[in-house]
Amino acid sequence: MPTVRQLLQYKANGKQIVALTAWDFAIAQILDTAGVDLILVGDSLAMVTLGYENTLPLTLDEIIHHAKAVKRGVKNALIVVDLPFLSYQTSTEVAIASAGRILKETGAQAVKLEGGHPTMVATIARLVEIGIPVMGHIGLTPQSVHQLGYRQQGQTEIDRDRLLASAVELERAGAFSIVLEHIPADLATSISQKISIPTIGIGAGTGCDGQVLVTADLLGLTLRQPPFAKAYVNLQKIITQAVQDYSNDVKSATDNR
Ligand code: KIV
Repeated sequence: MPTVRQLLQYKANGKQIVALTAWDFAIAQILDTAGVDLILVGDSLAMVTLGYENTLPLTLDEIIHHAKAVKRGVKNALIVVDLPFLSYQTSTEVAIASAGRILKETGAQAVKLEGGHPTMVATIARLVEIGIPVMGHIGLTPQSVHQLGYRQQGQTEIDRDRLLASAVELERAGAFSIVLEHIPADLATSISQKISIPTIGIGAGTGCDGQVLVTADLLGLTLRQPPFAKAYVNLQKIITQAVQDYSNDVKSATDNR
């Protein structure tokens, strides 16, 4: 099982980190058996699994429920769990209580939270100080959808400088890695070269130290596929066909056991 310290070694040794999201026991077991290094119980489960419009309604109880199921399916991968919207932004104490619950109740090894502004950096420093490994997340941060939309970030010089500075500050605060979501590839490469902790990209080009995808996107299970997410198979089509075949068998009384 890679530890957060070993993930730092991946970067030092030029080894790419393979990360994917999981939301239940079955998916987690498949990803783990396939050799994925890091499994993220991302708050994207709000949309892909629970049918919410965006990630904002997801509660801490809901993500803990799913993270426990994921943990039961994983023997090797490092498990990181997202802190849901408003489970960490209001104060450092709230963040400690939420992250503490995740580690205590799910058995996951780390938490992820969005944002790189000074208040968030201070919260991360405190979480790390008390022994909670933290993954940062900058660029497109879906919990800020009402401010940012789902547009690519880092398109102006000011925004590029801000993102680079945030990455440096997150490393200084003790984050063990940073997700870079939907930013220009050259900016993601510059950030990855500037800091010594691994960057994990999604829609950020190939210059990162690893990649993550929402597994439902990779499997072709989502209706609203982001432009940067590649579907490696169309499970919607395959499942629909299987259900129709089954349905036809039932209706024609063919033996389907
Ligand atoms: O919630 C999630 O799945 C994520 C990934 C997109 C990185 O944060």
